Amino acid sequence: MITVSLLGAGNRGLDTYAKLAQQEFDDVKLVCCIDADEERLMQFKESFGAGDEALYKSTEEFFEKPRQSDLLIIATQDTSHYKFAKKALMKGYDIILEKPVALKVGELLELEELSNKLERTVIVCHVLRYQKMWQLIKQTVDEGKLGKIVTIAHNENIGHYHYAHSYARGSWRNKSTSGPLILTKSSHDIDLMYYLVGSPIKRVASFGSLSYFHSGNAPEGHGERCESCAVKDSCPYEGERMYTSFGGFFPLFTKNKYTRRAVKEGLRATDYGRCIYTMGNDVVDNQASILEFENGVTATFNLNAFTRRMHRSVKVMCEYGEIRADERTVEISTFELQPLFSGFLKNKLHLDRKVIKRIRLHKPWDFSQYLGHVDADRLFVKTVFDNYRQRKQSLTPISEAVHSHIAALALEEARATGQTVAMQEFVDKNLSNAL
Ligand SMILES: NC(=O)c1ccc[n+]([C@@H]2O[C@H](COP(=O)([O-])OP(=O)(O)OC[C@H]3O[C@@H](n4cnc5c(N)ncnc54)[C@H](O)[C@@H]3O)[C@@H](O)[C@H]2O)c1
Repeated sequence: MITVSLLGAGNRGLDTYAKLAQQEFDDVKLVCCIDADEERLMQFKESFGAGDEALYKSTEEFFEKPRQSDLLIIATQDTSHYKFAKKALMKGYDIILEKPVALKVGELLELEELSNKLERTVIVCHVLRYQKMWQLIKQTVDEGKLGKIVTIAHNENIGHYHYAHSYARGSWRNKSTSGPLILTKSSHDIDLMYYLVGSPIKRVASFGSLSYFHSGNAPEGHGERCESCAVKDSCPYEGERMYTSFGGFFPLFTKNKYTRRAVKEGLRATDYGRCIYTMGNDVVDNQASILEFENGVTATFNLNAFTRRMHRSVKVMCEYGEIRADERTVEISTFELQPLFSGFLKNKLHLDRKVIKRIRLHKPWDFSQYLGHVDADRLFVKTVFDNYRQRKQSLTPISEAVHSHIAALALEEARATGQTVAMQEFVDKNLSNAL
């Protein structure tokens, strides 16, 4: 039996990891929940049949107690991860830790060092490494038939409505209360490129701004909240329409209630009902970056809000072929001419640049492609607990995640200063500033 406590019973902690673990395993038991929100504690109680003594409103109270479980899932908001992870490690917990692991170079390295010193496992929720698409790309690259990677072009298409929800109105709208977009959204993307290339990042450059989602674009006559706004009918980000239209964004603020009434009440009670143009948000809505890896591979990375769909698309360009993928299909092609016939005609007639494999990742009727990072959340949970049971190293240990987090911070520095940033110098500078 693997016992698990849950710190932060929100969308990721309760609705994703805890519920998937319950669905997938008989020998994983959720034993405790810590959340400042009473309603979330009650939802945990109902879902897992926990007694009142297993519910904690305060983290202090929980950490004062002796270790309650093998693992602690930490899925509170970004600024608290470092503090809670440190406490948990000292208390003897192995951890499943939401990204971002921490927001400063010194804190990242400190947590890695502490987990090594105490010999504790820290599994970072870089769930996309587990996704079918990225596993297929990684296997294809590692097989070596396409030769070495020369360059990568990667896009994180946030989707305008997802950006509106999370980064204009939501918890990740200000750098000071979460972190820069390139870290909070894209530690995933940098981690994936690092995973494929298999060599550390050497230096980075980056450009970007908050170009659209600001008060300069507020329509004339707009109100403070959508409900009472005179121009709401012509606004693409009007809250009620955005969260109740078919195929619209999930109203995550209603804590699992999906009725029109719950949405309306939620919009009235939270920032999600405020005018999108006057939120005082300061994270960028577009950022274009260039990365050079120590083994000479280069990559471009475009992170932006202005796409219809929310999805990642990538082109991995290798010496003898390329891989294109977009979460729906993976296409692998070779530059080799393909013989049309075998036998004595083999070298006479050829087809140029043949696609050798086009893999459709999901059947059209497979609803799972619309949930939980396509299939990544479920595969993450399955693999993580299986590996933990067998004492196998996870695919996303803290030692791997720290690099992508530092690279994200270096990219933000490059964007803010307009300079190319060398990773080692960036680390040295940050560590000496922290002294
Ligand atoms: N791995 C991924 O792909 C991925 C995707 C989305 C979000 N995230 C990250 O997951 C984390 C959680 O995001 P979410 O959307 O679930 O947020 P959420 O707001 O839905 O959940 C956070 C929960 O933590 C509780 N909480 C916050 N501070 C607390 C404290 N001090 N003590 C006790 N409880 C506290 C809140 O009451 C809430 O229930 C964030 O850090 C976010 O960046 C990761």
